Amino acid sequence: MNTTKKLTIAIDGYSSCGKSTLAKALAKKLNYIFVDSGAMYRGIALFCLQNKIIKGTEIDTVHLINTLQTIDLKFIYNEQIQESELFLNGVNVALDIRKPDVAAVVSQVASIEAVRVKLVEMQQEMGLNGGIIMDGRDIGTVVFPFADLKLFVTADPKIRAERRYKEMLIKDPDTNIEEVEANLIARDKMDTTRAISPLVRAEDALILDNTHMDREMQLNFVLNLLKEKELI
Ligand code: DC
Repeated sequence: MNTTKKLTIAIDGYSSCGKSTLAKALAKKLNYIFVDSGAMYRGIALFCLQNKIIKGTEIDTVHLINTLQTIDLKFIYNEQIQESELFLNGVNVALDIRKPDVAAVVSQVASIEAVRVKLVEMQQEMGLNGGIIMDGRDIGTVVFPFADLKLFVTADPKIRAERRYKEMLIKDPDTNIEEVEANLIARDKMDTTRAISPLVRAEDALILDNTHMDREMQLNFVLNLLKEKELI
């Protein structure tokens, strides 16, 4: 049993596969830092909407690149809810980044190279001392190519849409399941086909299909895997 080494764990996969839920539970169990890298891309997308850098589906890329250095993103831990929340230029945007207007444009924003360069640099800095579990789309391939464990999470798209729908319904009773599913499919398509750092499984990533697994089963699966590999 390795008790000293603080591991780096990369969790990638499609939209609404429960990556963050798994990463969060694992981080709690191992007393590691959890970073939801998707929240950071959502933060930039929200900034674009707030500053009219996106109109409709048109992004003013030059404007965005010129203002990128003014965007300050920070995760601050909230003791009350025992979770980190994203702050955009000093303002808590944890709820705003989950709204459908952000979901509608985030994949487009995430396909811009300068955005990725900025966020990958921040993410790598967060992981300098290990003891981190980060989830996203390019964590095992680009952010932490030397991660101790890489997972590629997947699930049936219908199940994913249902899970996301139930989650969103709590916050917005007008949520429409067809819209949720359409957004999920559109984002997966854009994330897997973009030119820069597309979502692909790292060669050494283990596939975790959680279509028929609940949260506890997934957590136990990963903990057993870490034990088998003598990483914990
Ligand atoms: O994980 P999420 O659904 O909150 O991510 C929002 C979007 O951000 C997703 O559609 C793709 C993009 N993303 C990315 O390109 N790279 C990451 N590491 C994380 C997210």
